[in-house]
Amino acid sequence: MTTYHQIPDDEKGYELDLFCVPKHYEEDLDRVIIPHGLIMDRTERLARDIVRDMGGHHIVALCVLKGGYKFFSDLLDYIKALNQNCDKSVPLTVDFIRLKSYCNVLIVEDIVETGRTMETLLSLLSECNPKMVKVVSLLVKRTPRSSGYRPDYMGFEVPDWFLVGYALDYNEYFRDLGHICILNEKAKVKYKV
Ligand code: IMP
Ligand code: MG
Repeated sequence: MTTYHQIPDDEKGYELDLFCVPKHYEEDLDRVIIPHGLIMDRTERLARDIVRDMGGHHIVALCVLKGGYKFFSDLLDYIKALNQNCDKSVPLTVDFIRLKSYCNVLIVEDIVETGRTMETLLSLLSECNPKMVKVVSLLVKRTPRSSGYRPDYMGFEVPDWFLVGYALDYNEYFRDLGHICILNEKAKVKYKV
């Protein structure tokens, strides 16, 4: 059973003024939901769990672009730090969604909503006969649209809200925001394509 932190539906989050957000997004956001420091702390622990389970095996860390790149790079930094300082270590190579024959694959995703993206990717990957495939997603959305798919590792379970920041985007905006936040209604119109 994977453990994760559940963010409840009545989560109030934090006032924007408590943290630093880019000037160009100040008017667009309602609240901070997951501050950057908490994302990093949870990511550090996910790295430890992954090394505990996969230590000794060579793995290919597969980044699901574009949303996964921040989580991917921070997660790998923590795994690298553990590799340097622990008895068990995981030899790592990286790739960015390019299908070929892999040995052990760790798919790194930003958020699972319905689960369809991941199910499609997993069925494509299965054609390459990987020895082992594990999925780590920073966020999993609690939504009635879910197919029931759950990743092997997850950072947080979040309410059915549209979230931005830490590489999660709305029409390509907000990837350059450190915290995970709720977009306000005005911004949904402002950045609509
Ligand atoms: P799924 O196929 O429904 O699981 O959708 C997963 C993909 O949808 C993610 O990789 C994201 O790119 C995108 N997505 C889903 N929810 C959000 C959100 O709240 N913010 C930003 N992107 C999202
Ligand atoms: Mg994604």
